[in-house]
Amino acid sequence: MTSDLQRWVQEAQATGTLAGLPDRHFIDGAAVASVDGATMATLDPGTGGAFAHFAAGQAADVDAAVLAANRALKGPWRDMAPAQRGRVLHRVAELIRANAARLAVVETLDSGKRLVEALGDVAGAANCFDYYAGACDKHQGDSLPLGPDYLAYTLNEPVGVTAHIIPWNYPLSTAARGLAPALAAGCTVVAKPAEQTPLTALMLAELCLQAGVPAGVCNVVTGTGRDAGAALVRHPGVHHITFTGSVNTGIDVMRSAAPNITRLVLELGGKSPLLVLADADLSQAADNVMGAIFENAGQICSAGSRLLVARAVHEQLVAQVTARAAALRLSLGHGLRDPGMGPLNSEAHLHKVAGYVDRARARGVAVRTGGNIRPDPQTGLGWFYEPTVLDDLSPNDEAVQEEIFGPVLCVQVFDDLEEAVALANGTPFGLVAGVFTRDLSAAHRLARDIDAGQVYINEYFAGGISVPFGGNKRSGFGREKGLEALRSYSKTKSVVARL
Ligand code: NAI
Ligand code: MG
Repeated sequence: MTSDLQRWVQEAQATGTLAGLPDRHFIDGAAVASVDGATMATLDPGTGGAFAHFAAGQAADVDAAVLAANRALKGPWRDMAPAQRGRVLHRVAELIRANAARLAVVETLDSGKRLVEALGDVAGAANCFDYYAGACDKHQGDSLPLGPDYLAYTLNEPVGVTAHIIPWNYPLSTAARGLAPALAAGCTVVAKPAEQTPLTALMLAELCLQAGVPAGVCNVVTGTGRDAGAALVRHPGVHHITFTGSVNTGIDVMRSAAPNITRLVLELGGKSPLLVLADADLSQAADNVMGAIFENAGQICSAGSRLLVARAVHEQLVAQVTARAAALRLSLGHGLRDPGMGPLNSEAHLHKVAGYVDRARARGVAVRTGGNIRPDPQTGLGWFYEPTVLDDLSPNDEAVQEEIFGPVLCVQVFDDLEEAVALANGTPFGLVAGVFTRDLSAAHRLARDIDAGQVYINEYFAGGISVPFGGNKRSGFGREKGLEALRSYSKTKSVVARL
């Protein structure tokens, strides 16, 4: 551990919080309290206790932020030479790295995630800003061949003010992957982080200002989804919405966007299958299954929450995964101690996850390991759930069809590839899929036939910021990351001149 990191961890462990956390909205380059002065608490999932307060925003606060963003749209940001905009975004990346230790400790306190995962998220956020910094002056249009009497070309114009509704499972990562391409495209933004995890988005906005992003270009309003979130997505001064969260809220957001014809990208989670064929390297597959479902305690939209395994290797693989999950249960703990697995993000979410497993057990589903709420063994506190494996589920089981969003692996068995594809596609979701096999021909056939936004072959979560990400079916539409995200935040204008 670096001395910087040690210092913040020690302060957090000694006091339960950190001094100097942001506690107000970030609007027009300044920290501002809510118009009505209301605040709310954010909790540490590792203890269940409040550790900081922040502004509970309402429509009036959202209004101020959207106005600031619209004013900034006429300011220097959009007309800045793209290479210069890129230099500013590179400075954001450097400032994220310079503040990595503090950002990671705050993310762990606020979301519950393990410190090592939080550090990974911070590093990823910095990489994201570097990636789009480098893309600013390469976001070029086309010239269109209409013959000698015409000149025709396309321009990429910023869509305008972009709203970003951010969930609690990857607060900084999701903020960065929305803000960086939007800013690179010349947009101005208003972000609304989840009420469970408001702090790192506020810190990111401050770093953007420090790096030279002009005041008003990057605004953050905190508060509940019902108040601040709903006011933001129905605001006529917003030109694009990027929403990451649940399907039901996504439906509400789409409805709110309709009257203003606001563009949107919806990233709504999934029930992603990880397929293991009989010829796969089983220990490599087991490693990947563990990461796919137990990283961030399974609270990942693209978690590999369904293991689809060939009958010939079913017992062998599930026994391996079960033994490892049972061992992981012994190292649950507060994220700052870097345990094997951290808590779930909220008490309500803990009970939602537990409910899925309790109902499965009552239906007679085999619970191979786990299946219980279990507080931090050192303190008796926090919202922890045991790593859980549900075996041999039928295709229409509730646990197979619905997103549990916790450390609960659902195993399904297949006899041939046709059945594997049917099972893989047999849910309302289509976000990602993993395929493990030594037969690359089979792998690419499966990649062709599985209805998902991305397919990982022999490494779950393979890729990074340069790979487009998003879902099909009820997992949403539109793509983030990669150069596709720049297009999400741009409007194409075609210009044709008769010479
Ligand atoms: P949610 O979809 O209600 O919350 C996500 C974000 O939307 C938060 O910032 C929230 O404040 C905001 N929000 C809520 N209602 C809104 C509205 N009417 N208008 C605008 N913004 C609004 O999700 P929640 O309740 O936190 O989690 C429920 C389930 O959603 C989870 O159990 C999980 O299955 C799924 N989920 C999926 C995520 C993903 O990465 N795709 C992330 C978080 C949750
Ligand atoms: Mg919190």
